[in-house]
Amino acid sequence: MTMRTAAGDIEIVSKLGPDERLLAFDVLDGLTRPFKEVPPKHFYDAEGSRLFEQIIEQPEYYPYRTERVILEACAEEIVARTGAAELVELGSGVPTKTLLLLDAMRDAGTLDRYVPFDVSESVLLGSAERLVEQYPGLRVYGVLGDFERHLDALPVAEGPRIIAFLGGTIGNFPPGSRRKFLRGLARELRPQDRLLLGTDLVKDPALLEAAYNDAAGVTAAFNRNMLAVINRELGGDFDLDAFEHVAFYDREQEWIEMRLRALEPMVVNVRELDLAVHFANREEMRTEISAKFTRERLQADLAAAGLRLHALMTDDDSLFALSLSGP
Ligand code: SAH
Ligand code: AVI
Repeated sequence: MTMRTAAGDIEIVSKLGPDERLLAFDVLDGLTRPFKEVPPKHFYDAEGSRLFEQIIEQPEYYPYRTERVILEACAEEIVARTGAAELVELGSGVPTKTLLLLDAMRDAGTLDRYVPFDVSESVLLGSAERLVEQYPGLRVYGVLGDFERHLDALPVAEGPRIIAFLGGTIGNFPPGSRRKFLRGLARELRPQDRLLLGTDLVKDPALLEAAYNDAAGVTAAFNRNMLAVINRELGGDFDLDAFEHVAFYDREQEWIEMRLRALEPMVVNVRELDLAVHFANREEMRTEISAKFTRERLQADLAAAGLRLHALMTDDDSLFALSLSGP
């Protein structure tokens, strides 16, 4: 699909056709395991994306605003170091921090193309339209897809490129697939290109647990929304009120784990999958891990993917890190 607007060009490619039964596969696979699990990419329908935008405003959720502070301080230098003409952004969401990078590229006179990549159609289309208006002459090439499977949909680079993966979303991969994913990303980078990666850091567990258990209950609503997605898309009959939000820091694994806990024994039917799922009283299903990093873990992961760390930027309290690496 290509859209031409008065302000600039938008091209959107979609890898999520009707044959792409991502949710169906993940639900069938995940809910028939002894320890139930559905991957976090299925949080993000329009409502889930809206709830995420509320999470980042909660006082307890420090990652978003901390990464923003780092970008405010470092965007100019990142752009100067890379001479980037293109910004590819994986899991772009509603691009707000991104504007700091686009501003720096515009001010340096190099800005040419923005390539947002997300599974959430509502945020992808909205952000493309907003950005061509905000940056006259900017070309936007949006990819609607799953970055675990569709990196081949990235357009061929036309100038020096930054691939940004912000917010700490890399932490949502389990360690093995994280390295595999980074290796795939490294293959996309030419010698002059750079990966700009946001990683949340290991810290006081109390701070971490508070960030995923906000007092207003927004993270809990975001977590339960995954059940609403399954109900709508696959004809499920989950009772959202019959599950409670659980988020805790696993000190051994050094990750936050989010789960939904059944408050009573029940059978849930998922019509389109012809599936009846039994939940025991207090049985939990995992919906997300969010790994926290040390400098050593980050460097080891990058090295395993064939990437060399060029710069590591953190805030004064070492809560969050942005790294710039390349092949
Ligand atoms: N980059 C933004 C948003 C982070 S929220 C920030 O830093 O604040 C995570 C984003 O990644 C959401 O927009 C979600 O839709 C997207 N996402 C999650 N899993 C994905 C996947 N497998 N493929 C593509 N996008 C994904
Ligand atoms: C997108 N991702 C990095 C967020 C995180 O912190 O793992 C998603 C999130 N889950 C609960 N709160 C926010």
